[in-house]
Amino acid sequence: MTGAASGIGAAVVERFLAEGARVIAVDVAGQAADRPEVLAITGDVADAATWRRIADVARAEFGRLDVLHSNASVVVRAPAHEMAEDDWDRQLAVNLTATYLGVKACLGLLRENRGAVVLSSSVHALVGIPLHPAYAAAKGGLVSLGRQLAVEYGPEVRVNTVLPGPILTPAWDGIGEEDRRRSAAATAAARFGRPDEVAAAVTFLACEESSYVTGACLVVDGGWTAVKDSA
Ligand SMILES: NC(=O)c1ccc[n+]([C@@H]2O[C@H](COP(=O)([O-])OP(=O)(O)OC[C@H]3O[C@@H](n4cnc5c(N)ncnc54)[C@H](O)[C@@H]3O)[C@@H](O)[C@H]2O)c1
Repeated sequence: MTGAASGIGAAVVERFLAEGARVIAVDVAGQAADRPEVLAITGDVADAATWRRIADVARAEFGRLDVLHSNASVVVRAPAHEMAEDDWDRQLAVNLTATYLGVKACLGLLRENRGAVVLSSSVHALVGIPLHPAYAAAKGGLVSLGRQLAVEYGPEVRVNTVLPGPILTPAWDGIGEEDRRRSAAATAAARFGRPDEVAAAVTFLACEESSYVTGACLVVDGGWTAVKDSA
C-alpha cells in the first residue's frame, strides 16, 4: 500500500492490520519504525525501481501479495496556463503513472493468489474544481485505467477504484478555514469524511466480500457529488 505515512493511507494500514493482514507500507516520507507485521519502505512510487523493490520484498518476506492499494498522491494548485511543466509531469507521474508501474511490477504476484488492486482516485475525476488541472487529469485517468486493468487481468485479478470526497487529512493543512467549512457544508452528510471511512471502502474492495465487484468505482464523498446547490 502506498502513501502509507499519512491520512487515508495510514488509516488503511491500521484497518488492514486489524483484519489480520501483513502490510508493506510505502511512502516517500519517513515512517514510524517497523512493527512485526508492517514492512516500511521509503521510496518514490513514480520510480519503477521502488516497485521492483516492493515486489522483491513481498516475495522474499511474505511469499505472496494479495492486495495492491495505489494511494500516494501529490497536488500542485494552479490554473493550467500558470502551471509549470515540471509540476504537471510530477502530478501525472505520482498520481497516475505510478499505478501502471505498480501493476507492471506486481502483476505476477497478484495473479498467483487471485489478488485485488484498489486505486485511490477522487471526486476530481467526476467534476471540475478550479486550480486542479493535472490532479484532475490524473484522477480521471485512474478511473479509466482501473476499468482497463480489470478487463485486462480478470478473472485472476480484480481492480476497483475509490473516489473520496472531502476527507480531513493532512492534505487539507494548507487550506483556509472558510474553504474547509464550505467543502464540508457541500456534502449531504454535512461534514468532512474520516480517513477510516475511506479505509472501510478500500477494505471492502480488497477482500472477498467484494468477490463479484471489478472494474467499478466507489464514491466515498458523503454525497458531495450528489448535492447541487443551485442557489
Ligand atoms: N483527503 C481528501 O480530501 C481526498 C479527497 C479525494 C481523494 N483523495 C485521495 O486519497 C489519497 C490519500 O489522500 P490523503 O488525503 O490521505 O493524502 P495525504 O497528503 O495525507 O497523504 C499522501 C501520502 O502520499 C505520500 N506521497 C506523496 N508522494 C509520494 C511519492 N512520490 N511516493 C510515495 N509516497 C508519496 C505522502 O508522503 C503522504 O504520506 C490520495 O490519492 C488523494 O488524492 C483524498
